[in-house]
Amino acid sequence: MENNDTNAHADHGNAPKRIVVLLSGSGSNLQALIDAQQNAFFNGKIVCVISNRPDAYGLTRAQQANIETLSLDHKAYNTREQYDAELAKAIENTKPDLIILAGFMRILTPEFVAKFKGKLLNIHPSLLPKYQGLHTHQRALDAKDSEHGVSVHFVTEELDGGPVILQAKVPIFDGDTAEDLAARVHEQEHRIYPLVTKWFCQDRLLMQNDSAVLDNNKLPQQGYASE
Ligand code: GAR
Repeated sequence: MENNDTNAHADHGNAPKRIVVLLSGSGSNLQALIDAQQNAFFNGKIVCVISNRPDAYGLTRAQQANIETLSLDHKAYNTREQYDAELAKAIENTKPDLIILAGFMRILTPEFVAKFKGKLLNIHPSLLPKYQGLHTHQRALDAKDSEHGVSVHFVTEELDGGPVILQAKVPIFDGDTAEDLAARVHEQEHRIYPLVTKWFCQDRLLMQNDSAVLDNNKLPQQGYASE
């Protein structure tokens, strides 16, 4: 995949993109992004990490990397609309170019999504459009699938339904548990999320008419890695 990254796409002259990461849990994807940033893998800067869960380990990872954090506990709000309005305000204060959902386990209101359309990326642990929603690893096992994987996509109003940018596949072996599969998928997540972030930071990737466009080419339904 990386072979297509030629000097023609170097970042000369582009200001680093300001990135906000939203999460709810462990933050291993955040860690992959922090590591990639520290290796100058993409021309961007994570300016803030926001969690809806005050105890999310992802916040600790951010603090260890000297990144500003904000804990915005959803339990303190009566409605999803109120929470998302507050979240949107906090995000707008950071003047972001890109908002990365990295295990942010909340359904977003249409108002929120509309506000940041084209700047919102999500990672979902399945080969979309398969297995939108929760428990994706167990569902792939229950269906006796021979392969599984992960998708990075732009966020639209439809839950886990926005245009796919990139997928990575993993095999399913006999005797796999959901935990085995989650670990195998996580490894791929940590490779493809920094790569998609890099494309965005290079201004090579955008959403146009609800399609993902890379280097002026509309990507197929299953993204760049589709076969
Ligand atoms: C990841 O597996 C990500 O794909 C999933 O949450 C996990 C977060 O892990 N996201 C979703 O299920 C979104 N629908 P992490 O906190 O270690 O990055």
